[in-house]
Amino acid sequence: MYSLSRKAEDYLEAILNVILEKGYARTKDVAGDLGVSPSSVVEMFRKLDAMHLVEYRKYEGVTLTEKGRAVAEVIKFRHDTLKRLFLLLGVSERAADEDACLMEHELSEESIRRIRLFVDFLDSPDAPADVQGAFEAFCRGKAGESGGK
Ligand code: FE2
Repeated sequence: MYSLSRKAEDYLEAILNVILEKGYARTKDVAGDLGVSPSSVVEMFRKLDAMHLVEYRKYEGVTLTEKGRAVAEVIKFRHDTLKRLFLLLGVSERAADEDACLMEHELSEESIRRIRLFVDFLDSPDAPADVQGAFEAFCRGKAGESGGK
């Protein structure tokens, strides 16, 4: 999967998200999800089809092949994991989404695996009580120290 471009990975992820939400992926829905024009979507659908990652049918939209779905699921897992980390850190929803989308393509398997374990741990009953509350209090202290920065 690492020979795929970032853009191709983003498309596969968007297609999966649209399919999970609607049951199928039409060109205009994927265009809306990615904020790009329908003609760029069709162009990428054709490329992904040639790579056997999707099946594109004009006027209908796309479905993911088994191989395409496997790639999309890896990217989505990475996105969800990174977004959870950012939200736990108190980052805004919008920045958490945007930054997860940048980092999902770059991080090593090892780092993603450990980040996933870390966020799962913080959400589990094994986590020390109110880690997030303690972290927020610490951040407020730091903000006070540096004069509000
Ligand atoms: Fe993403």
